[in-house]
Amino acid sequence: MDMVNSSAVPFSIALVFIAAVITKVAWAKITAVPASSFNNTQPHPPEVITSITSAVRLLHTLVTKGFTSMLQEQYTKLGSVFTISFLGMKTTFLAGPEVSAHFYQGLESEISHGNILEFTVPMFGKDVAFGVDIATRTEQHRFYLDALKPAKLRCHVAPMLHEVEKYFAKWGQHGTVDLKQELEQLLMLISARCLLGKEVREKMFDEVFSAFHELTENSLQLTSLLFPYAPTPTTRRRDRASARLSSIFAEIVRSRKSSNRVEEDVLQNLVDSKYKDGRHTTEAEVTGLIIAILFAGKHTSTTSSTWTGARLLSHTECLEAALEEQQQIVKKHGDNIDYDTLLEMSFLHCCIKEALRMHPTAPIFLRKVRKNFTVRTREGYEYEIPSGHTIASPLVINHNIPYIYKDPDVYDPHRFGHGREEDRVGGKFTYNAFSGGRHACPGEAYAYMQVKVIWSHLLRNFELKLVSSFPETNWLKLSPEPRGKVEVSYKRRMLPRSMLEN
Ligand code: HEM
Repeated sequence: MDMVNSSAVPFSIALVFIAAVITKVAWAKITAVPASSFNNTQPHPPEVITSITSAVRLLHTLVTKGFTSMLQEQYTKLGSVFTISFLGMKTTFLAGPEVSAHFYQGLESEISHGNILEFTVPMFGKDVAFGVDIATRTEQHRFYLDALKPAKLRCHVAPMLHEVEKYFAKWGQHGTVDLKQELEQLLMLISARCLLGKEVREKMFDEVFSAFHELTENSLQLTSLLFPYAPTPTTRRRDRASARLSSIFAEIVRSRKSSNRVEEDVLQNLVDSKYKDGRHTTEAEVTGLIIAILFAGKHTSTTSSTWTGARLLSHTECLEAALEEQQQIVKKHGDNIDYDTLLEMSFLHCCIKEALRMHPTAPIFLRKVRKNFTVRTREGYEYEIPSGHTIASPLVINHNIPYIYKDPDVYDPHRFGHGREEDRVGGKFTYNAFSGGRHACPGEAYAYMQVKVIWSHLLRNFELKLVSSFPETNWLKLSPEPRGKVEVSYKRRMLPRSMLEN
């Protein structure tokens, strides 16, 4: 999901967290909850803050080594299920595929998002997502799945390619660019064309994306996250941007309907979607659904394509293998790219997947437990997780477990290839970059498709070098991204003919 440019947000959350822990320590109220408090037979998971000393130690690791190292340390010490408790709130971490099934597959009555995503209601409107009951939300999820299923994706390849070719045609013979900024711009153009439709792409691109920027910026400020309905200047700006977007999309939908015009974009699929009782989506629903999809896909696509580039350009062997794959495909199909040729780019697929393993767009997923459940660890311990706990699936641990991912610190796309398939070692919840189960990302195939269209074009047409050092992760964003500029130098190559001559 798009977690945007307000670095103050996570920083402030970290500060609140630290302050909370310090307060807790000072009041000496940090105690373990006895296992027997909710069940006489089964223990609850080991808890981190059980004494002032361990609280201080935890805080020290958090401040000096960062969030990921702090979690890794607890995982190594306590195993795959452990609870961190502060300010009376308990978050239980379920690390690794063996303990993840219920997290991803539990019924909504057992495990839910709680009010974690309440702040999205004023963004997308009361008629969709977390503004509606679970039955309606499930049906709306089906609309996304249907709009983004393989049979519907084929028609997006040509327009994507058109945007990509047009965009890179503007680059000179050689030069240096900030890859992150370039890809962000290009991905907005692709989204405008394939998701929002040609009305936006051709006539309202700047207006829509500036309103969208205003919407996300103001929705993700700390005050709007904590108090989404407080009458502050920030929420007023958010609401103005939301109203502007709603009126634009309502007008487009009305105009298509009144002129019987049918387009091939995702917006059209949402307009045509029907609930089980035969009711069509309303204008407000279509508007909310399309804004939500833009939010879900924009930042995630930019960071994943940038990380893929940064990783590829830092690993000569992988870069050569990716080029070799393009050469083979060009030999076989010429320089045409369609849906089927994209499917043949299996090594490029693995390069993207591996970038997302190391740099997931969400480092952690959170849910609320609504009904006690029992979890059995790989080592055979059984713990009961009580209702009311927040539970977390930490991708930053899941994707780096050494008995699953060999040398997890090494960028190695081959780990997903035939014979190794490390993402299946622990069953279906081994790899979670696109979440899984009930809340799996419906845009996964679309996301791979667009990153492949971009990177196959770049590989075929440019010699690229990473000029700046390999980017650090900016953890101060709610959705981590490469920190600073990702400077890449390019030189046009004479392809595809020169490839064929190789
Ligand atoms: C590499 C890029 C992407 C990644 C890593 C990614 C990842 C995710 C994840 C982890 C979730 C679930 C969040 C949760 O559990 O609450 C999600 C939800 C979602 N994603 Fe993606 N996503 C990507 C790109 C896209 C794209 C391009 C689209 C649309 C074209 C999209 C559409 C959605 C939607 C609509 C949801 C919410 C589904 C619902 O709950 O109804 N995503 N995505």
